[in-house]
Amino acid sequence: MQKRWYDFLYVKSPIVKIGLGTLAILLTLGVIALQLLMEEPRMEAQTASWEGRSIEIGADLFANNCASCHGIEGKGLQGVAPALDSRYFFSQRLNDVGFTGTQDQYIALTLHAGRPSKVDTQWANVMATWGSEFGGPLRADQIDHLVSFVMNWEETALAQTPEEDPWQFFQDALSKQLPYDPSEPGYQTKLDQAVAAAEAAGVSNYSIGGVEVQAPTADEAADAGPRDPEELFTTMACIGCHNLDQDQTPDNRGITAPNLGNLAEVAGDMVPGQDAATYVYNSIVAPNDYIVEGYLPGVMTQNFAEQMSEEEIQAMVEWLLSR
Ligand code: HEC
Ligand code: HEC
Repeated sequence: MQKRWYDFLYVKSPIVKIGLGTLAILLTLGVIALQLLMEEPRMEAQTASWEGRSIEIGADLFANNCASCHGIEGKGLQGVAPALDSRYFFSQRLNDVGFTGTQDQYIALTLHAGRPSKVDTQWANVMATWGSEFGGPLRADQIDHLVSFVMNWEETALAQTPEEDPWQFFQDALSKQLPYDPSEPGYQTKLDQAVAAAEAAGVSNYSIGGVEVQAPTADEAADAGPRDPEELFTTMACIGCHNLDQDQTPDNRGITAPNLGNLAEVAGDMVPGQDAATYVYNSIVAPNDYIVEGYLPGVMTQNFAEQMSEEEIQAMVEWLLSR
């Protein structure tokens, strides 16, 4: 019989047949094992790139929807919205509000539902509802991206010293403790600020960081005499919205509120019939009566007339116009 070219494939010896079969099985197993080994790093790389992408999309959404209140870097704005890139936010806030879920669930919940029911808050506006299922403007996947973006601050936020942490005292969910070690830089300043904020909010019978807070009674406050306007500009949080050093010009407008550097020059020309002192006085006690062009009504705190005495407001007007 003529030999065909592929005759060499016919193996006669059973031993060689078994050997070849075993080898083939081993090879197959080897390939499978190798793939299993590669799968883990491949999945990790995939997840990392997906997360990176999600954080990026979240960053865009944040810049467009959230930065006006929470600040471009999430450090919060005094009197407007709390800090999110904050050690307090990632280490203590959930304990203080009594939320038992995880940090990302807390952020997701706040975003989907907002905190729309508040009637009295330390912030200029309430946190709106964002989830479309509750009538807000954002889809669920967009909220997922925002959660990734905010969570992405966790690592750096937890490394903040008390001094660097932009946390502002919450008046309606009092901090049960300071999330810092007393030996860290800025601890005392942060504690003093929290105590001052608690007192200013009229909180009593409350202790933080080992300090008992007793809000001064109305009589004590009156005895202490009028507070200094410059100090009030900080404690009343004016400084969080207004820049005192820069001028307000068409090319240099304050983001949240007008710069007050050149207030003395412009105040007399704002509202016909009001001289500079009347205009500034009205701007403080009834901000919505006249809205500076390009800004929103309702942003500036509306009840300063209740938080400062008449004498203190007059002194504030004088100080603002004499700087
Ligand atoms: C109009 C201003 C405003 C805008 C815009 C805004 N927020 Fe808020 N946000 C607030 C205020 C005020 C609070 C605090 C609410 C409270 O505790 O009553 C808050 C609370 C939060 C909290 C919870 C913080 C905490 O410590 O409990 C998160 C998270 C948050 N906002 C994320 C966002 C994100 C993300 C966006 C953009 C989609 C956004 N916010 C847009 C004002 C705003
Ligand atoms: C939460 C932000 C916010 C805080 C806090 C705030 N303001 Fe304002 N302020 C605004 C905004 C926004 C405007 C412009 C809209 C308007 O006319 O009400 C404004 C307007 C003014 C004006 C008029 C400025 C101009 O250029 O015509 C004065 C004066 C002023 N504020 C003083 C103060 C003083 C004093 C305090 C503290 C006691 C204070 N503001 C606290 C947001 C704020």
